[in-house]
Amino acid sequence: MTTRLFKNARIFTPVDAGAPAAGKDQGNLRILEQGALVVENGLIADLGETDAVRGRIDMGMLDEVVDCRGRTVIPGFVDPHTHLCFAALREAEFDLRMAGTPYLDILKQGGGILSSVRAVRAASEDDLFETSERHVLAAMRLGTTTLEIKSGYGLDTETELRMLRVIDRMGRETPLDVVPTFLGAHAVPEEYRGRADAFVDLVVGEMIPAVRDQGIARYCDVFCEEGVFSIDQGRRILAAAREAGLGVKIHADEVHDLGGAGLAAAMGAASADHLLAASDGNLLQMAEGGVTAVLLPATAYSLRKPYARARHMIDAGLPVALATDCNPGSSYTESMPFVIGLAVINMAMTPAEALTAATLNAAYAVGMAKTVGSLDSGKQADFLFLDGDSPTILAYHAGVSPVAAVFKRGARVF
Ligand code: NIG
Ligand code: FE
Repeated sequence: MTTRLFKNARIFTPVDAGAPAAGKDQGNLRILEQGALVVENGLIADLGETDAVRGRIDMGMLDEVVDCRGRTVIPGFVDPHTHLCFAALREAEFDLRMAGTPYLDILKQGGGILSSVRAVRAASEDDLFETSERHVLAAMRLGTTTLEIKSGYGLDTETELRMLRVIDRMGRETPLDVVPTFLGAHAVPEEYRGRADAFVDLVVGEMIPAVRDQGIARYCDVFCEEGVFSIDQGRRILAAAREAGLGVKIHADEVHDLGGAGLAAAMGAASADHLLAASDGNLLQMAEGGVTAVLLPATAYSLRKPYARARHMIDAGLPVALATDCNPGSSYTESMPFVIGLAVINMAMTPAEALTAATLNAAYAVGMAKTVGSLDSGKQADFLFLDGDSPTILAYHAGVSPVAAVFKRGARVF
């Protein structure tokens, strides 16, 4: 057993009251000016002002004392929505989008997600692991200590299972905690063009049972969008997933308001994600149904769309989380600091609300709040040193990373 004391830290952490932080609570941080953390075997054994903590522990038991010299310390980021398991970039498509071709038109023409599907189907399991690992480690250096990764570039049973194996391996062979999500209904694959219902039959009848038997995925997600999957198709898939013991999530109302947010509420989803076009009524249903809103401002930025209405959501009592959506199409970034900057500057979230969104509420959105997402006794010692006096630096110092060090289960990993 190793015990370490981190002392003289300016600690900022959301408060875990047993549920995602909503409304005014989203902006309430616990602040310790001269804080200390006691880390025992990777877990937080104690936390408080340095003098008080010193009085509670046997200093002779410590293996190491780290003087943080007034550094700002926050919990490691939890990125609750990524597609960073992919085989190839799509730079040419970015050029097309910047020249004015809409994102969904590129998909309709067989590019976009479908071009990533071709690349992933052709990649070996090891190659897919190596390319994806680079993005995971980039995220880690930017402060992410837990992340969700979706499949969804296979769109056939064999390749979806292979992606989930690679995603699972990412959690075992990198320092990070990884939450695998099955996204077999990410697009209608070429071989099912014009036969979306038949593809949904395959997802429900073959893929979900295989994913359940494989035992890796914790969630099932579906992309409900015009020209992709309808609300009825989404409902069928998520009902089957729930039946198979998976948690459910939805890519909801990203481009058009189909009512994905309402479906999330009706299905008891852990989260509804995107929500750029979600209606007031459906957002209210989400708040009543206890669904966390996962917002992806880097996607709005890259697609040049109006941002999700975070201010309205928080004021309406909806817990808001933030994620990168890291993928080779709509949002190519691993950076939670960038996402926090966009949230503060373009969605009128306060830095404190954005910190809660990127840690505690994100942990709830992926079912990880028992172990990560805030600095609390009993949780993992996942934390960051920031260059700056407060979490405000994350939004204020644009275009660079103020993350000076990353600790995962008490060990320095960057
Ligand atoms: O969340 N909207 C669907 N899926 C991703 C994009 C995936 C891609 O373009 O490869 C998203 O934006
Ligand atoms: Fe996404």
